Amino acid sequence: MSKNTVTVIDNRNGNSYEFNILDASIGPSVVDISTFYKNTGMFTYDEGYTSTASCKSDITYIDGETGKLMYRGYDISYMANKKTFLDTAFLLLNGDLPTQEELDNFTLEMKKRSFVHEAVKKLFDAFPDRAHPMAILSAGVSALATLYFKHLDINTSEEFREMSNRIVAKIPTLAAFSYRYSKGLPIIYPDLNRGFTENFLYMMRAYPHQHIELRDVEIKALDTIFTLHADHEQNASTTAVRNLASTMAHPYAAISAGIGALWGKSHGGANESVIRQLEMIGSVDKVDEYIARAKDKNDPFRLMGFGHRVYKNFDPRATILKDIRDDLMGELNISGKLIEVANKIEHIALNDEYFVSRGLYPNIDFYSGLILQALKIPKEMFAVIFVIGRTPGWIAQWNELQQQKNIKIARPRQLYNGPTERTPK
Ligand code: CMC
Repeated sequence: MSKNTVTVIDNRNGNSYEFNILDASIGPSVVDISTFYKNTGMFTYDEGYTSTASCKSDITYIDGETGKLMYRGYDISYMANKKTFLDTAFLLLNGDLPTQEELDNFTLEMKKRSFVHEAVKKLFDAFPDRAHPMAILSAGVSALATLYFKHLDINTSEEFREMSNRIVAKIPTLAAFSYRYSKGLPIIYPDLNRGFTENFLYMMRAYPHQHIELRDVEIKALDTIFTLHADHEQNASTTAVRNLASTMAHPYAAISAGIGALWGKSHGGANESVIRQLEMIGSVDKVDEYIARAKDKNDPFRLMGFGHRVYKNFDPRATILKDIRDDLMGELNISGKLIEVANKIEHIALNDEYFVSRGLYPNIDFYSGLILQALKIPKEMFAVIFVIGRTPGWIAQWNELQQQKNIKIARPRQLYNGPTERTPK
């Protein structure tokens, strides 16, 4: 019996099977069960993949116990505090941080590619008023596959660079368009004199021929939110993107699928739910009542923005955003009932035995919801902001899979619980 194996014994018949252990560069090793069915005649069962590594990856590392998150080996606090979102996007897409010259070229290319084909506007015209911007955005990204069909067949690093830079550059424009169309507001085209993140805020807020100044503190806050959302290893939307990539689908169809997965309130929709809940609670004198409901086992009510499936001690992204929220609130002199309610809930949860003993501290969505609210971003755009941040991560993951020698189509099996064969009547 080799040391680097795991033995599985079937207690029904005493048969034993050996499986190799593969070591990670950092973090948990995995048991290679790719031959499990061939050897044992059984499948493994792991609903929600809580114990399953679905791929090998070099991109993002998370340690949920110690609250560690790294992009390509760089700690998230370094990326958020010392680097910009475009540095982060370049790092995820290319594997290394850019030199100054590379960053200048990347920034310029982002500007040049930020306009979208006018045909996409005709598509947007067809959507009804008040259509959700996530639905519009997903359709808009799918439509790009009709314009750039050649990206279906990518063989060189130059072709990959063109495809990936194109989508990263156009996502903020499509995102802002999806908001303006959903409200019937005039479309604002990108302003080539503004940086990536500033340009998005400008396209959200401006009116034709109006000169608007955006404050550095607002741009920095949004840029950091993009950076913190840029990748999070094999989460639900990234898994959706990889599943499509494994079928050789068009990369923009894969991104569109990622947007669909992200829309759900258990994923990218959580920060919108935080603000809706704070609005529902309404005033500080109601907080105790809702805290009691959150602690009551017979009440399904949960405090939105608290707890995390992977981070069991703290969410490193939340720690960074807490500081940004404090800066932003101070600088923009923001106050009001919502902030008072949020502050009281945060204070209780950080000190109450129920929350402390279960590790239920504020997560990234608690703070990002408040920051986006302070930036006057409408609630229905919160998940769209997440998409802008996550797009480089999705594309990097798509490419990592494409680079593999033998790509296996994602095709899980099942534990069949339906009827056995029935006799037709
Ligand atoms: N409010 C009150 N009690 C809670 C909460 C909450 N938000 N979250 C968990 N609990 C309790 C839960 O009732 C259970 O108690 P007990 O041990 O007495 O039965 C215990 O804490 C563990 O809960 P769990 O459901 O087993 O924990 P989980 O790791 O499966 O769930 C979670 C994680 C994020 C789904 C959950 O904490 C939750 O629903 N939070 C609120 C929604 C939210 O903020 N979601 C955004 C998460 S960050 C998104 C991202 O990174 O993609």
